[in-house]
Amino acid sequence: MSSRAVTGQPAGESPNARSLFAPVAADLVAADAAIRAVANLDNALLSQTLRVILTSSGKRLRPALTLLTARLHETTLQRRVELAAAAELLHTASLIHDDVIDVSDARRGRPTINATFNNTLAVLTGDYLFGKSGELVAGLGSPPIMGVFSRAVMELVQGEMLRPSLNGDLSSTERDYLAKIKGKTASLFAMCCQTGAMLDADVHDPNVARLRDYGMNLGIAFQVVDDVLDYTASEAELGKPVGSDLRHGTVTLPAIYYLRRHPQDDRVRGLLAQDDNYLEAAGAAVEAIRCSEAIEQAIDRAREFALAAAVQLEGLPPGPVTDALYGLTRYVVDRTE
Ligand code: IPE
Ligand code: IPE
Ligand code: MG
Ligand code: MG
Repeated sequence: MSSRAVTGQPAGESPNARSLFAPVAADLVAADAAIRAVANLDNALLSQTLRVILTSSGKRLRPALTLLTARLHETTLQRRVELAAAAELLHTASLIHDDVIDVSDARRGRPTINATFNNTLAVLTGDYLFGKSGELVAGLGSPPIMGVFSRAVMELVQGEMLRPSLNGDLSSTERDYLAKIKGKTASLFAMCCQTGAMLDADVHDPNVARLRDYGMNLGIAFQVVDDVLDYTASEAELGKPVGSDLRHGTVTLPAIYYLRRHPQDDRVRGLLAQDDNYLEAAGAAVEAIRCSEAIEQAIDRAREFALAAAVQLEGLPPGPVTDALYGLTRYVVDRTE
């Protein structure tokens, strides 16, 4: 099912990410080439594992955010492309490790490294990319940017480690969930926007803090929608498994909102508590959440964060870059893939 049925909007009205990237299209081509080139190594095995993921069709959202925010002042093509490539490589490293953690067998429409090879090679390939992204950022010669980059990695890891608890009231579960996605996803979006704005900019540039806040709110909205799509989309649309969060006991906003209205649904509570007795009921439980009002409520929550992101753009100079950043606040809510 496409998210058309989720948002009630015709799919054609959703802004398309590629068209929003138009102001930095040429930069993105250069960043893409730099990203793919990382797989060209003498080490045949590493080259093979890297190629699986680096030549696949990711949305390139993080390099695009970096390149867009870097366009708000003068930088050289080479420097902004290296920063953008570093952001995508860091994201890719986190995806490779995430697929080990989530035992996922598909990513970007291809088998994952853990499924094709094994967990050991996936962990090592991810580690290599963490190192490579750090090398690119270090080459920029900006300790403040290196600091923001390193802190994003630390926040991402801590976010991934959080496990929202269902033992208290559901408002505290929602707070835990938001803290988790802020760390594991939004901190990277914030880093992209902040470091793009910092690159070769005046240290007192007030846009740096605003764009960090923009990225943080945008990233929260993006992950809430990712968690909705896990219930509403198909593997063909997303290129990765769907319906897997509930099966794996991952507490996300649709399940939290569903439990608010259906507190007695033992299937959902049982699956979230990873009680294997409920695994057979997983399909029906996913369907119950997918057809419930929880989906629309979660989209509304994502929209609140997207609006909070848009507010941060108010002081920016009008023009195609600012328009694209506004467009992305709509895209993250309306996207179907
Ligand atoms: C996937 O991110 C991980 C999340 C934060 C949900 P994307 O959906 O941006 O993944 P790619 O890069 O397009 O594959
Ligand atoms: C996002 O969480 C993963 C990272 C930020 C590394 P998910 O587990 O929901 O991401 P997908 O759905 O596998 O892309
Ligand atoms: Mg995952
Ligand atoms: Mg997901």
